[in-house]
Amino acid sequence: MTKIFGHRGSAGTHPENTMEAYQEAIRVGADGLEIDVHLTKDGKIAVFHDETVDRVTDGRGHVKDFTMDELKKLDAGNHLSEEFKGAKIPELKEVLALVKEANILINIELKNVFYLEYPHLEEMVLKEVERFNLKKQTIISSFNHLSMRHMRALDSEIDIAILYSAKLIEPWNYAETVGATSLHPHLYSMTEEMIRYSEAHHIPVRPYTVNDEKLMEYFFQLGCEAIITDYPERAITIRSRWEE
Ligand code: G3P
Ligand code: MG
Repeated sequence: MTKIFGHRGSAGTHPENTMEAYQEAIRVGADGLEIDVHLTKDGKIAVFHDETVDRVTDGRGHVKDFTMDELKKLDAGNHLSEEFKGAKIPELKEVLALVKEANILINIELKNVFYLEYPHLEEMVLKEVERFNLKKQTIISSFNHLSMRHMRALDSEIDIAILYSAKLIEPWNYAETVGATSLHPHLYSMTEEMIRYSEAHHIPVRPYTVNDEKLMEYFFQLGCEAIITDYPERAITIRSRWEE
């Protein structure tokens, strides 16, 4: 059965990467959460998507220039609707506590891309996952494949996924070069061949961000290990129809 990961929680219905969005994904029965992480000025792991807070909060500036306490003062819900006014930016440990309690899966995407290096983010994230004893329920991913290679050097067991949006040649072989154990392709870089060969190499494929009903059905039928979607409730409804 294809698993369903709520992208940034349930970003299609709730303010992305907030506890409200994660609780919604859990409520509707998602198998896992996809979250994004940055480092704050005081070395805390903040759960947030963009490099700057401008798009989804009432603040301005780069996440890396805020302390965690300063980020906590921002409103991360009001931009979507008054109903979500007061939603906060979570710290990684809050989300891990929720994942532990709900006993679901978590995909932590490291946002150490472009000009943001975030030295030791890999070590810090791994330490937190271990502290919560969640290694078997965690997938670490990034568009920064050097970082994923570093993550593999730190830990030989944890599931590591490479994120990409290009049409790669033999990504199942490339994953092995990186030391990754899973593929997280953009949905437009998916091919049926990729599913077949990746399966043969025991490399799960989890496309993002699958919001369209027809595409959900297509990926369920292809036998993807999981999909990552902004609409976990919609995906679960379609999956249950598909299973009948
Ligand atoms: O992890 C899948 C997806 O979240 C990657 O892209 O930009 O939505 O973080 P983005
Ligand atoms: Mg992401």
